[in-house]
Amino acid sequence: MNTTKALLSLMVLAFATQLASAQKGVNDLDPVTERKIDSIINLMTLKEKMGQMVQYNGSFDLTGAPSEIDGNTKLQKLRAGEVGSMLNVLTAAGTREAQENVMKYSRLKIPLIFGYDVIHGYKTMFPVPLGESASWDLEAIENGARIAAVETAASGVHWTFAPMVDVSRDARWGRIMEGGGEDPYLNSVIGVARIKGFQGTDLSDVFSIAACAKHFAGYGYGEGGRDYNTVNVGISELQNSILMPFKAAAEAGVATFMNSFNEIDGTPATASVYLQREVLKKDWDYKGFVVSDWGSIVEMINHGYAKDKMQAGELAVKGGSDMDMEGLVYEESLVPLVENGSIDEALLNDAVRRILRVKFNLGLFEDPYKYSDETREAQNVYTEAHLEASEDIARKSIVLLKNENNALPLKTSLKSIAVIGPLAADKDSPLGNWRAQAVPNSAVSVLEGIQNKLGAAVEINYAKGADLAIGERAFIQPLKLNQTDTTGFADAVAAAAKSEVVVMVLGEDAYQTGEARSYTDITLAGVQQELLDAVHAVNENIVLVLMNGRPLDLSKPNEQVPAILETWFLGSRAGNAIADVLFGDYNPSGKLPVSFPRNVGQEPLYYNRKNTGRPSSDLIFYSGYEDSSIEALFPFGFGLSYTSFEYSDISLGAETLNADGTLTASVSVTNTGDVAGKETVQLYIRDLFASKTRPIKELRDFKQIELEPGESKTVTFVITPKTLEFYSANNIWETEPGDFEVMIGTNSMDLKKAAFSYE
Ligand code: BGC
Repeated sequence: MNTTKALLSLMVLAFATQLASAQKGVNDLDPVTERKIDSIINLMTLKEKMGQMVQYNGSFDLTGAPSEIDGNTKLQKLRAGEVGSMLNVLTAAGTREAQENVMKYSRLKIPLIFGYDVIHGYKTMFPVPLGESASWDLEAIENGARIAAVETAASGVHWTFAPMVDVSRDARWGRIMEGGGEDPYLNSVIGVARIKGFQGTDLSDVFSIAACAKHFAGYGYGEGGRDYNTVNVGISELQNSILMPFKAAAEAGVATFMNSFNEIDGTPATASVYLQREVLKKDWDYKGFVVSDWGSIVEMINHGYAKDKMQAGELAVKGGSDMDMEGLVYEESLVPLVENGSIDEALLNDAVRRILRVKFNLGLFEDPYKYSDETREAQNVYTEAHLEASEDIARKSIVLLKNENNALPLKTSLKSIAVIGPLAADKDSPLGNWRAQAVPNSAVSVLEGIQNKLGAAVEINYAKGADLAIGERAFIQPLKLNQTDTTGFADAVAAAAKSEVVVMVLGEDAYQTGEARSYTDITLAGVQQELLDAVHAVNENIVLVLMNGRPLDLSKPNEQVPAILETWFLGSRAGNAIADVLFGDYNPSGKLPVSFPRNVGQEPLYYNRKNTGRPSSDLIFYSGYEDSSIEALFPFGFGLSYTSFEYSDISLGAETLNADGTLTASVSVTNTGDVAGKETVQLYIRDLFASKTRPIKELRDFKQIELEPGESKTVTFVITPKTLEFYSANNIWETEPGDFEVMIGTNSMDLKKAAFSYE
């Protein structure tokens, strides 16, 4: 058969049988699809194989260093079939145009896959991921990701570079905002909820998009909280903490992985045979593909790991990186590397197979333009229903950190209220960083939320007090903070002096968090603490509303104000959600997914630490600080409610768990306050001795319950051997016999305890 005939019959086969394949996850191989992939690979030239492994940036957003090659050269390469994917190409029309270049001109007509960073919404903005994680509401989180997928898919895009499941324990790191916080288990279940939301039950659904578990691996552990920095961890920590959420993502069938910029123990993750080939593709039997991070292949030259692009390409492909994101390494190196015998063509075949598999799963061979539909785009982006869903999860993400003498909720019968602070009327920062297609200044501000809530009878005295940032704020440039200008203080003080209560909205500018936004000072930035001091001097009745993407050092404000509400960056309808909580229309239920420190010197700070040989005590020669407690100011899992909950002791179903058995652990929780409320009941486990040292406690399950005043509910957890599993000294996941503690309670510090053993 000549090539043209082979191509034709292949295309007929592709069109006719695509509808028959009902794959659910990338790991469930469909024999028909695999045979189609075989035929395509058989037809491909070396250059065409290389092409599938190349991803170019389009023209919309720049999320890394500017491209070395111009648009026209890129276009020619698209037409020649030398590009398999593009990022940052958007809209139904824009993606159609790019796709046409491949479908009309290239020899094999293999559709492009379009990727984009849809991190917390496409145009309708949801809370930033760390904030949304504070809801601990997996259903709402999945729903948020689903809506983001609907808007993304309707805009022509097939693939999001999310969720980020990097466990991060360092408040200095700007990207802590982008994940599920410090706990491996919470990151796992939240990551899976997001993957389910993005991918739906079937990737070929026109509203499903491929997800991407990133950054594989260790990116959240950069030394000193400095972005892109060196990581040094051993296998036990790597497997048990960092990799746990990635393993869960692979098991959930996430379509793709992205590797990371950092090195671990001297090897850049991008070239890590251990991570990408041994753990991911062999131990976890993962069938999707790995995209590099932006330029992470070429950056191996800067790491001092590759001497030039040729060697970088060789190391990356051998290491298991299947696609080169805008690094321009694979396009120069892969063909010569195969031709000169440095790499086996089978490595390219494997990478191409994985990439084509995802394209087949998305249904792109059936219809390369199926996502590029202007009518669907007009109907499905930024709808009222989507905005309402974002407001719903925004409310659930708010964490009440302090509420002395029931300072909150505020009464709508107030005569006057001052609303003060650089973030009070800000309609932009609530949109957060990594905001995709959000319209700048489109969020409901806190001031607007309060105005919407209160009638004209209440006097609202607004004063900005000070600017947080100076000059232009943008994703692609450093932010300049206002460190000196206090000229607005006088207005703020006057507003506070004449008001019954003050709502102060302080925290971070959205562009203080996110990629490359590392800070060494995590107290209130700029002149905000001075502003708080000045206002406090005239009116102590202050409710501090915080907007931020990382844990802050709140030691000083915590001594000054009676009430603190952590609101993160809550998205499009932030102000309404915050006003609902301020005035008691929603009883706050969020719990911190990350520890808030007493001072930056405690970082990295995390509740699931090891005991050490000399656990912290008041005595000298124990592991602590002379000038600070080692405990958080607000611990992991912490969050108050307008009601109170009382926990009974734990009742265990048995004292021993057997290999094929289960063990129940129950508590009764009573609402002892005056209003209905939602509680997140948390279960922690401690393995008292093991072949590798284990943390003093680890979250292993949680349940949310709603209780009316006076009502009690029994919450029962089922513990199985799997609950106790860890990556042991045998280098496998297993449960070792021994003694355990089970702890249940309202946060990681306030827990009931019981003991059992596993035989
Ligand atoms: C980030 C990734 C992101 C990529 C593409 C990189 O700088 O680390 O998380 O997906 O850019 O925008």
